[in-house]
Amino acid sequence: MDCTRLAEALAEARGRQEVFRRALTALEEAGVIRCGEAYWVDEGVSLFQMQACRSTCPLVARSRLLAQEALKRGTPLQEDSFVALPVRQGEKTLAVVVLSLKEGQAIPEALPALLLLALKRPGLELAGRLLIAQEEERRRVGRELHDGVGSLLTAALLTLKVAEKRPEKLPEARKQVAEALEEVRKLSRELRMSLLDDLGLKEALLRYLEEYRKHGLAVEVQLDLPPLPKEKEIALFRVVQEALTNILRHAQAQRVSVRLWPEGDRLFGRVEDDGRGFDPERTPASVGLLGMQERIQNLGGSLILHSRPGQGTRVEFGVPL
Ligand SMILES: Nc1ncnc2c1ncn2[C@@H]1O[C@H](COP(=O)(O)OP(=O)(O)OP(=O)(O)O)[C@@H](O)[C@H]1O
Ligand SMILES: [Mg+2]
Repeated sequence: MDCTRLAEALAEARGRQEVFRRALTALEEAGVIRCGEAYWVDEGVSLFQMQACRSTCPLVARSRLLAQEALKRGTPLQEDSFVALPVRQGEKTLAVVVLSLKEGQAIPEALPALLLLALKRPGLELAGRLLIAQEEERRRVGRELHDGVGSLLTAALLTLKVAEKRPEKLPEARKQVAEALEEVRKLSRELRMSLLDDLGLKEALLRYLEEYRKHGLAVEVQLDLPPLPKEKEIALFRVVQEALTNILRHAQAQRVSVRLWPEGDRLFGRVEDDGRGFDPERTPASVGLLGMQERIQNLGGSLILHSRPGQGTRVEFGVPL
C-alpha cells in the first residue's frame, strides 16, 4: 500500500481519535484489512477503546484480548489473520491497533512509526482537546437553546395566538420575546468566553484574529504572554476585542497591529490602526471606550487612547502582572 497517502491522511488528523479513524479507513480502502480497532493505552495501562469495528466480525470477540497481550509483550502479535500492533515511543506503549487482515495482505511496515508521528505531532493535543471541548459545548448549547430559548419562544408564540383575539396580551408576548433575546445574548457571550477558557488568551486571540482578518484588513500580531489569572485574560481579551471592533466599525483602516508584551512587572498592550482617526476630546465616549477604561482600571492599570482625525488610532494600556 502507498504509505505516502497514509502519511498525508494522518498528517491532517485533528485529535487522536481521528488519527486512528483515518489510519483504519486508509487501510481498509487500500484493501489491506477487513476491519480494525484501536486502543489508547491510558496512564493506568488499561486499554481504552477508540474505534469499534463497523460490522459484526470475529475480530470483535478477540480484539481486546489480543490488544492486552500485545501491550504486555510490547511487540506485534499475530493470530490467524489478526494482528495486534503496539505503537511505541521508546519503552512506552501509547496505543495498540488490532487489525483483521485480508488474505495475502500484510501490515505496512511503516505503520507504527507513522502512527507515532501523527500522535506526537505538535498541535494535535491542543486540537484534540479543542475538539472535545467543542463537542461538549455543542451539546450544552443545544440543550440551552432547546430548554431556554425554545421554551420562551414557544410561550411567546402561544401568547401571540391568544393576542390575535385579545390584544391586551401583546405586552406579555413582547416580554417573552425580550427574555428569549436576552437568553440568546447570554449564550453567545458565554460561547465566546468558553473559547478563552479552553485555549487561554494567546490562542483565543490568535483564533479571533484569524476570523477578523477575513474582513480584509492586514493584521500584524505580536503576542508575548506570560501565564495570567483567568479574570485578567478575560478582561484583556475584551479590551482587545472592543478596540478591534471599533476599528471595523469606525476606522476604515487598511492595517491593524496588535501587540501584547511583558516589561518589568507590567503587561503592556497596544492596538493600532491606520484609519481615519477621530478627536477624542470631541467625541463622546460610549459604552465601548468606557468599558475598556473600566476593565483596565479594575486590573489596577491604565489605558490611553491616542487619535487624531486622519492619523489613525492607537489604544495603549498597561496592567500589573
Ligand atoms: N479605531 C477608531 N477609529 C475611528 N474612530 C473610532 C475608533 N474607535 C472609536 N472611535 C470613535 O469613538 C467613538 C466611541 O467609541 P465607543 O467604542 O465608545 O462607541 P461605539 O463603538 O460607537 O459604540 P459601542 O458602545 O457599541 O462600542 C465611536 O463612535 C467612534 O466615533
Ligand atoms: Mg465600540
